[in-house]
Amino acid sequence: MTPLDPAARLGHKQAMARSSASFTCTSCGASHKKWAGRCDACGAWNSIVEEAPLSTGPASKSLGGARGRAAPLSDLSTPEPPPPRTTSGLAELDRVLGGGLVPASAILVGGDPGIGKSTLLLQAAASFARAGLSCVYVSGEEASAQVRMRAQRLGLADAPVRLATETNLRDILTTLDRERPGLAIIDSIQTMWADNVDSAPGSVSQVRAAAHELVSFAKRTGVAVVLVGHVTKEGQIAGPRVVEHMVDTVLYFEGERGHQFRILRAVKNRFGPADEIGVFEMTGMGLAEVANPSALFLSDRGAPAPGSAVFAGIEGTRPVLTEIQALVAPAPPGTPRRTVVGLDSGRLSTTLAVLEARCGIPFAGFDVFLNVAGGMKVTEPAADLAVAAALLSAREDVALPSDTVIFGEISLSGALRPVSQTENRLKEAQKLGFTTAIAPAQSKPGGSAGLKLRQMADLTAFVGDIFGAG
Ligand code: TYD
Ligand code: MG
Repeated sequence: MTPLDPAARLGHKQAMARSSASFTCTSCGASHKKWAGRCDACGAWNSIVEEAPLSTGPASKSLGGARGRAAPLSDLSTPEPPPPRTTSGLAELDRVLGGGLVPASAILVGGDPGIGKSTLLLQAAASFARAGLSCVYVSGEEASAQVRMRAQRLGLADAPVRLATETNLRDILTTLDRERPGLAIIDSIQTMWADNVDSAPGSVSQVRAAAHELVSFAKRTGVAVVLVGHVTKEGQIAGPRVVEHMVDTVLYFEGERGHQFRILRAVKNRFGPADEIGVFEMTGMGLAEVANPSALFLSDRGAPAPGSAVFAGIEGTRPVLTEIQALVAPAPPGTPRRTVVGLDSGRLSTTLAVLEARCGIPFAGFDVFLNVAGGMKVTEPAADLAVAAALLSAREDVALPSDTVIFGEISLSGALRPVSQTENRLKEAQKLGFTTAIAPAQSKPGGSAGLKLRQMADLTAFVGDIFGAG
């Protein structure tokens, strides 16, 4: 055997990995040779735990050695009908799924504990069941009585959902195999326990093994499977990121504590656009759909105040207006504070640096607080200009005109870059009663008349125009 024999090298590497890598990050699933306080792969602290190595049988021989079965090959032009979809009638959920539930798909719904995942999925199960899809809801966390009580509170007790409280994966698979429902909900994947894996429920090996079994079950039988996963801050429980790569669709249920808004966001979807959001409101009667999120996010805007700018954003396929709020206050000696909620702190630093370097407006002596109202998270670079506007407005103590929306990406040179879907942003702003939009110079407004579009080439022009001196 020459040293370059790929099969031999693969076998050698696998053997090495099995014997040595026995520490795993519970946040991202990366394996490490030894324990460390911080995971190199994802940067999480205190997330590495020792794992019993996966038992994969006695053979440590390379796979290339033995003959396997030849997989059938086909070409790309074979016609494929679009997947049949079932809609639940919960429009916000159906949209995030890419237009309804696809049979045999595996969906992960992640979120912080207590955010409302069980509530959402019980409502989803009831809606799908009422729409004629057979649904099984497996709860590993709550007793049947608790789930029934919640169903009663939500007015869903009459929905034909089949309920099981079980954590043994073998029993669950047997049950599902006998029932063959259209949709099975597993709440949560961290409570599931596969008896062929020798570690505690919630550990990376258990969560991976359980997810793997359930995903293969979905593919084999055509049952759509939803896995609920708690986001874990630290500790011994594996987070949903460990199974993200195994499933077709990854949805995160987000929201700020103390706010009633909840956002279901598709971060990965093999059957639809990623970044699509569904907006819900947590009420005493469960989650209510919010059909017009812009109105909701802007609803508690008072009189025009310094530090507030309205950003016309796009979430997935939908325009959403949000209010960006900034507070700029003189800082005590030392490093000034930069506190950001709902936006990327790296982009705030960049925007501050561009304002200082290109427009000569320093923020060095000031604490800066930046926030997206309503608990929304904004990830688009198109928010740059609205962030800059809010910062300047707070710093100069001048309120921006209340009938104006702002969007545009700021490049490091200080130039304003046009962003996508200008027309959609303008239409939404117009619908909500705004009369003026500030946008980068080369934006293509399309056919949306009725809104005054003020286009600016760079940040200096913007500062001069809005705040007088440049
Ligand atoms: P839950 O769905 O249990 O969260 P998760 O499964 O993500 O841990 O929801 C928990 C919270 O939702 C709880 O604090 C109470 C609140 N809630 C309401 O406000 N209204 C309702 O109708 C329901 C069922 C729950
Ligand atoms: Mg729950």
